[in-house]
Amino acid sequence: MVKVTYIDSSGVSRTIEVAPGVSVMQGAKQNDIPEITADCGGLRTCSSCHVYVDPQWMDKLQPMHKIENGLLAFKETRQPNSRLSCQILMTEDLDGLVVRTLPPEPDEDAND
Ligand code: FES
Repeated sequence: MVKVTYIDSSGVSRTIEVAPGVSVMQGAKQNDIPEITADCGGLRTCSSCHVYVDPQWMDKLQPMHKIENGLLAFKETRQPNSRLSCQILMTEDLDGLVVRTLPPEPDEDAND
């Protein structure tokens, strides 16, 4: 098992253990971590699993796929350490990973 720490937008930190191969998004959903709604279930179509990765871990992540990059390109909240948590698969090398979650964005349909 490997550890992931999620720090929410109010500063509350939660650390869980997951098996290698589980995504950071799946770990959040399985452990009721708030602010990761993951509406598409990991299909790279929603970006509601957006997190900020602690900068010290960025070099250890798998490279970003162009689809992930394309989804994040539409996020006003994107930062250099933005990633989709459904695309981060936990490995032994990522044991201790720290991510910050963002509050869910208002439903785009609400602006209609
Ligand atoms: S859960 Fe939808 S893009 Fe990650």
